[in-house]
Amino acid sequence: MVKRLRLKLAVYFALFVLILYELGVLGSVGIFQWGLSRSMDILLQDLLAETRPSIEIVNEIPSLTNWARAAKREHSPVLAIVQIYDQDRKLIQNFGPVGVKKLASGHVSNKDQTISVRSLYQPIIHQGKAYGFLQIQVSTESNDKIFNDMLLATFLVMPFLALGVVVAGYQFAGIALKPVEETLSLFKRFVADAGHELKTPISVIEAATETLSVVDENEPITKSDLEFELQTITKANRRMKELTSDLLFLAKVEDQAIIFRRREIIMSELIEEVVDQFRPLARSKNLTIELDADTPVIIDGEPESVHQAISNLLSNAVRYTDHGKISVRLTENEVFAVVEVSDTGIGISESDKDNIFHRFHRSDESRSREAGGAGLGLSIVKAVLEAHKGSVTVDSQLGSGSTFTVRFPKKLI
Ligand SMILES: Nc1ncnc2c1ncn2[C@@H]1O[C@H](COP(=O)(O)OP(=O)(O)OP(=O)(O)O)[C@@H](O)[C@H]1O
Ligand SMILES: [Mg+2]
Repeated sequence: MVKRLRLKLAVYFALFVLILYELGVLGSVGIFQWGLSRSMDILLQDLLAETRPSIEIVNEIPSLTNWARAAKREHSPVLAIVQIYDQDRKLIQNFGPVGVKKLASGHVSNKDQTISVRSLYQPIIHQGKAYGFLQIQVSTESNDKIFNDMLLATFLVMPFLALGVVVAGYQFAGIALKPVEETLSLFKRFVADAGHELKTPISVIEAATETLSVVDENEPITKSDLEFELQTITKANRRMKELTSDLLFLAKVEDQAIIFRRREIIMSELIEEVVDQFRPLARSKNLTIELDADTPVIIDGEPESVHQAISNLLSNAVRYTDHGKISVRLTENEVFAVVEVSDTGIGISESDKDNIFHRFHRSDESRSREAGGAGLGLSIVKAVLEAHKGSVTVDSQLGSGSTFTVRFPKKLI
């Protein structure tokens, strides 16, 4: 699909460039032709002004015969087309090369288009009386040929240009589509992972309901069997509920919409609240939680998501620690409020450190534990920190514990 889109983009790109190219060529040829016509008109005006005084009126008819004779005598050939028309616009004299025998100004051609000239004329007025017209023409044949050749060349170049642009466009489209391709494959993996995570509780519920629905009169369902199966269903149901609410929360945070719900958060208060929530669970596992959060640092954040991020870190610390303690520390530097959550738990291997923030990733050590989640907690932490323009890092040693550090930008005063 991405390949087809890439080719499509390359072709659209080539079409766009070719249209621009042709418009550019036509535009510049047009401007050049207009400039050339203007300078030809100026030349024709000069020639008219130069020739006009040489016209003689012989028997009421304008004539340039003597002027032409003198030019011949002086071996200065007449290069422009010089024509005299009578009052009825009939050609009566023609000197120089063959021109278009028609009284007209501008670009004119003869009937069969074999001669084309730039032409300009003016009336011949002598002692207040009109005797006809003097017209000068200059051939535009060589210019027309140059323009035609130029246009032909631009059309001939087009297929090669198109090929070049398609190849270049294909390469550029490849670069531009790389993030789309990555996002698509991430999305596919995400759907597969989410499906896989949902499949387990669904199968558990299916099996439990099947057990309950099989009616065997010789072996009726006992109360304890019923309780066990109902408990199984409840657990599987809870797992699905947690998974869907985590996914929805992740989507909400990644949507960046939380930016609009930001407000002042006193970090020490929020952390104390989260730690208090986890104390009973920690106690049940014989773990202590040490809290050092006296710094009066304030951030500009969305309370629900910040609360969720710190909760997820504490939930992991409690879940992945069997002995020892958990410490939560709040400090600040010039720019950030820094929260460190340390534990003396199972730790994280070097190879896992890069992946634990990916959705649904769980290390083999944690996978083998019964009390495992879906692997979304840290991706939520990462998304929350990204939405707040902060960061999350981990420092851990397999077997001896981990420290997760999150940095939220402080509120600007
Ligand atoms: N404090 C920790 N000590 C050791 N391993 C950890 C710790 N925190 C996270 N991990 C590892 O990182 C993985 C991803 O953690 P994450 O919080 O994203 O998912 P989870 O805890 O498995 O499930 P969820 O949080 O969705 O219920 C965990 O499965 C575990 O392997
Ligand atoms: Mg977790």
